[in-house]
Amino acid sequence: MNSYDQLFENNRRWVESVIAKDASFFERLSKFQAPEFLYIGCSDSRVPANEIMGLNPGEVFVHRNVANVVAAIDLNAMSVINYAVNQLKVKHIIVCGHYNCGGVRAAMLPKDMGILNPWLRNIRDVYRLHHTELDAIQDEHERYNRLVELNVQEQCINVIKTAAVQKSYTKNGFPVVHGWVFDLETGFIKDLEIDFPVILKDIQKIYDLSEDE
Ligand code: CO
Repeated sequence: MNSYDQLFENNRRWVESVIAKDASFFERLSKFQAPEFLYIGCSDSRVPANEIMGLNPGEVFVHRNVANVVAAIDLNAMSVINYAVNQLKVKHIIVCGHYNCGGVRAAMLPKDMGILNPWLRNIRDVYRLHHTELDAIQDEHERYNRLVELNVQEQCINVIKTAAVQKSYTKNGFPVVHGWVFDLETGFIKDLEIDFPVILKDIQKIYDLSEDE
């Protein structure tokens, strides 16, 4: 069996194993979703969202792209955030980057990457914002790791800048935004412990969208 055909075989086995444990699983799954979490992560195949958090189908709403970027004019990311906040009413939004991220690595290279340029610019902008701290790090690998963390932090700020998040938080006290980094070498998640209320207050000096027109 080739690797493509194997996928259907895997699927059949997975269905069997799920039903063996819980006969009505798919019946319940098909009715509705009420995940408490929105996860925004990298497309990298080595960072499977549900698995690293030990969550089942139905437990996390997921958006992934190259280097877990949250850009204000990305209709895809903005639609996901709006739907997760306004319809699903998620309690937590997690931006999860990872060390050894190829997207962040590419952004550090002084090269024309063609169609990737505007996307990588989001990360190059993070470098520019934090260049004093980053340029002071002598070891290149450490500097790269730090950029991964700072990229997560800045993308969290971009999530907090959205009207959906600000309005819901003002009204309901959620969602709370968290920044994580997944360490491929150990499998552990590192919580960057960003201070959500402090960041919210700070960015609302300029980006306050909590009131209607
Ligand atoms: Co990546």
